Amino acid sequence: MEHSAPGRRLSSRFVAGMTVEDALRATRELNEQGFAVTADALGESVRSEQEALAAAEIYHQLLDGISAANLNANISLKLTGVGMEVSPELAERTTRDIVAHAAHLKNFVRIDMENTQYTERTIALAERLNQQFPGAVGTVLQAYLFRTEGDAERLLRQGIRIRLCKGAYKEGADVAFPQKPDVDRNYVKLMHKILPSGVFCGIATHDAAMVEATERFAAEHNISRSAFEFQMLYGVKRDLQCELLKRGYGVRIYLPFGTDWYPYFMRRLAERPANVLFLLKNLV
Ligand code: FDA
Repeated sequence: MEHSAPGRRLSSRFVAGMTVEDALRATRELNEQGFAVTADALGESVRSEQEALAAAEIYHQLLDGISAANLNANISLKLTGVGMEVSPELAERTTRDIVAHAAHLKNFVRIDMENTQYTERTIALAERLNQQFPGAVGTVLQAYLFRTEGDAERLLRQGIRIRLCKGAYKEGADVAFPQKPDVDRNYVKLMHKILPSGVFCGIATHDAAMVEATERFAAEHNISRSAFEFQMLYGVKRDLQCELLKRGYGVRIYLPFGTDWYPYFMRRLAERPANVLFLLKNLV
């Protein structure tokens, strides 16, 4: 399905194309509208060293393409996409090479956060890489996890950039808030901690209530608009993306591309039942 023509048509709702060239083209278009971009070469759970190295090569091409075209974009990667399930050493090696490349080009790598099996390893790797390449790497914290407040303090102490999101994986009630109102409350609490820290941060949400809470807190505490940016997914809440840009905020679009779109696409459907209706209409 990932490679079929109907599959590609379907995925285009959330995925910006299949190739590095597609991603660079979409990035240029978004830059022209005023958006910054973080490009994600889709792929997770790769099972061999060869696949991991091939995935890493796409990121190297992407970094070179962004630099050559002088685009306003960085990259986002998943550790399972660059070999974590083959071996943590392989994921560390491929990620280190990518971060070194980004640092050389004065760019930035965001290590996405996956399920809790990987939380500690992701944070620890971001810490090690930040020591070697200060400012060239950051990671993501999920407001649904109980542990996140401690992780935020830990990363901020080291000046490591955080993208704050709610969290997209299915987690147990032993590690994560099961109820949405609790996740939202924790999101706001974490935003209050991260925003005034002096470490540039990404407020990643499409939730108008979270956006409004952020705007209000920033205004009340005289936090400059250059201290943070809003981040949203490609194809989600385009009206809010444009509105924030108009209001003078930095907005970065998370731009996924590639043929391995299925797990990413399914998470987006699961987040919003109305998307399934959209899918069915498209199939018809
Ligand atoms: P919420 O789920 O409450 O949605 C608020 C509103 O936004 C909905 O009512 C709907 O209108 C709209 N909306 C949300 N999702 C939609 C969708 N899929 N389709 C259409 N409309 C939708 N997660 C993670 O675990 N690790 C990560 O590294 C990242 N990275 C990341 C980067 C960026 C830039 C963003 C925006 C998000 C992530 N996420 C993530 C995903 C995140 O954890 C979360 O699952 C989604 O952003 C949905 O949560 P909201 O904050 O948008 O709120």
